[in-house]
Amino acid sequence: MNSYAFQHCINPDCGATYDLTEIHHRCPKCGALLDADYQWDKLPVPKSLKHFEQFWAQRDVFRRMSGVWRFHDLLPFAPLDECVTIGEGQTLLQKADFVAPYAGLKPGCLFLQYEGLNPSGSFKDNGMSAGLTHGKLVGAKTAACASTGNTSASMAIYCGCTRLMNAVIFIGSGKIAYGKLSQALDYGAKTIQIEGDFDDAMARVQEVSKKLGLYLLNSLNPFRLEGQKTIMFRVLEALRWEVPDWIVVPGGNLGNSSSFGKAFIELKKLGLIEKVPRLAVINAVGANTLYRLYTEEGLRWNGGRYDKQKVDAFFSQMDAEGRKASTIASAIEINRPVNLTKCLRALDFCDGVVRQVTEQEILDAKANIGAGGLGCEPASAASVAGAKKLVAEGTIGKDERVVCVLTGNQLKDPNATVAYHGTNREFFDKILGCRGVTTTEFANHPVTVANDIDQIIDLLK
Ligand code: F0G
Repeated sequence: MNSYAFQHCINPDCGATYDLTEIHHRCPKCGALLDADYQWDKLPVPKSLKHFEQFWAQRDVFRRMSGVWRFHDLLPFAPLDECVTIGEGQTLLQKADFVAPYAGLKPGCLFLQYEGLNPSGSFKDNGMSAGLTHGKLVGAKTAACASTGNTSASMAIYCGCTRLMNAVIFIGSGKIAYGKLSQALDYGAKTIQIEGDFDDAMARVQEVSKKLGLYLLNSLNPFRLEGQKTIMFRVLEALRWEVPDWIVVPGGNLGNSSSFGKAFIELKKLGLIEKVPRLAVINAVGANTLYRLYTEEGLRWNGGRYDKQKVDAFFSQMDAEGRKASTIASAIEINRPVNLTKCLRALDFCDGVVRQVTEQEILDAKANIGAGGLGCEPASAASVAGAKKLVAEGTIGKDERVVCVLTGNQLKDPNATVAYHGTNREFFDKILGCRGVTTTEFANHPVTVANDIDQIIDLLK
């Protein structure tokens, strides 16, 4: 293990540190979240981000092929030759001029970071390679997570491929898109369906993991978030180390936004960037805890001394009213985001904003992203829907450089796509109509024709 890496409580009034070998879901002293942290002054920190270009030529060192471990110097908690990879992070930032007008941006201004290209089809693989690496170092035998689908698919493929640990996943009943469920089952994970939603599964998996000594791979795990920092490193790499004006990301359990913030905090501290991008986190209207707390109630990080009473009161009221998250973007259908406080820190550092988008806005954005050639699942499309909203209200300028993160592949949730583009009214009503989606302005409807050559040719003329 790297003796210059440790775990660090994010609460400034506590600030406790723990050895890398200890396994905690939260700070044992104060209950706050933990960071992976480093004594950077004792480590060989690169002088410039160009340092990482040398690894492009090292295709014979297979860990350098990983889009995560190519940046090992910026997440150096384990020796490189111990790091787990199954080829994650071979993802590309795509200039999306076809989608830019939809978002109200000028050509050359919208970029899509397509994380659907990962081995399990979502950004989670960035974090899973790092989380599993830590689990391996501490000798974990069984990995566990709660999931709205992608974390479980990712954990299942990593455990299945590497055979380092057994996989146990907790999911809410009827809450997972079939693409994702099929992955977990196919990769051999023990799949436990809880009567309840994601938040119930999340609460239980923490209890069970503590009792049985299972290694938790949700984004509460600070090492998982280290891997997700590299999504931002690859964005910068694709922009030849220029920092964009905006990063726009869907918000669910808030692991991604938290890790992006940490990435920029560290890059700035290490003198590797001058400018910091602004961060926009996008909630679905039906799962808008962060939006309500941050935008409506003005909750702020406040140097780590955030208004905890406000948060507690919000959740008490949520429980009293029996309010439950509900959105077609099932990946982000979450009431109590576990990384709320880290996300507040990220929003603070990146002068962030939070917006919410409707089911209609999500699906229209998704259809436009798809027509641009990069299919994504509904949750991912919230990023572009959010960027569109921010441009329309004048927060994002039309000629600013905006990176939207497409978090998951289109094949994860074919129902939403087929209901939107298809012509089966009953199916539409069952999947989308019941959620208040009324129009399919950007649909690419299939055409039905008799099995007759003349009629087919007529149709194509
Ligand atoms: N997009 C997709 C496709 C996701 O699967 C998730 C989260 C998010 C966005 C939200 O990211 O939690 O970092 O804010 N999915 C988790 C899961 C919760 O269990 O797969 P976040």
